[in-house]
Amino acid sequence: MTDAGGAAATSRPGPRPGLWVTLEGGDGAGKTTQAALLQEWLEASGRTVVRTREPGGTEVGVLIRDIVLHHRGEVAPRAEALLYAADRAQHVQTLVIPALERGDVVVQDRYLDSSVAYQGAGRVLDATEVRDLSLWATGGALPDVTILLDLDPAAARARLDADDKPFDRLEAEREDFHTRVRTAFLDLASAEPERFLVLDATLPAAELAAAVRARIEPLL
Ligand code: TYD
Repeated sequence: MTDAGGAAATSRPGPRPGLWVTLEGGDGAGKTTQAALLQEWLEASGRTVVRTREPGGTEVGVLIRDIVLHHRGEVAPRAEALLYAADRAQHVQTLVIPALERGDVVVQDRYLDSSVAYQGAGRVLDATEVRDLSLWATGGALPDVTILLDLDPAAARARLDADDKPFDRLEAEREDFHTRVRTAFLDLASAEPERFLVLDATLPAAELAAAVRARIEPLL
């Protein structure tokens, strides 16, 4: 496997009847808006949608989310990676896989690519180890489609500033951290072009939503 994550030791939920879509990208890229628009469209076309996120898609995950995003003291990079992986293990086993087995569409804000980008490239841990940790945590489960909303970190920062909300631990990192994260996401997308759809997050939301629908529709 390349350091950005090749095809080793992974499994798509192929035989399962549902569809699993994840959204990735830097903070402020507009994932939440696109997840909401996708959910709306899927439900209007009669699909049952489970909309979820990492960290914090389960009760255990909410507790972990509070530590990783809001703990005031130091969290060691490896501890941070393990906390995200623990959140992921609980999420996949208790929520995502059961939903896919029921035949639902799972629309999920962030998954293991975020760990490779943020804990791997951002915190400078070994990308392969970080990815393998998540694959171990989840039994190797990978989404059917991953939408990457790509945005320049300076533009993202301007959006977050305009939001006027306090930054969480990751958002508060410096621009070079976010530049490494962006590059890692793009590398992951080029390593797995069949899974990823990369979109320019500066495009209008409606245009992005149309591109997302065009990618998902044939899979339904
Ligand atoms: P969240 O508030 O969910 O933000 P966003 O709208 O940006 O997705 O914050 C999640 C934060 O956690 C975000 O800064 C990215 C970070 N993160 C990691 O560092 N590693 C991970 O594995 C995941 C899932 C998220």
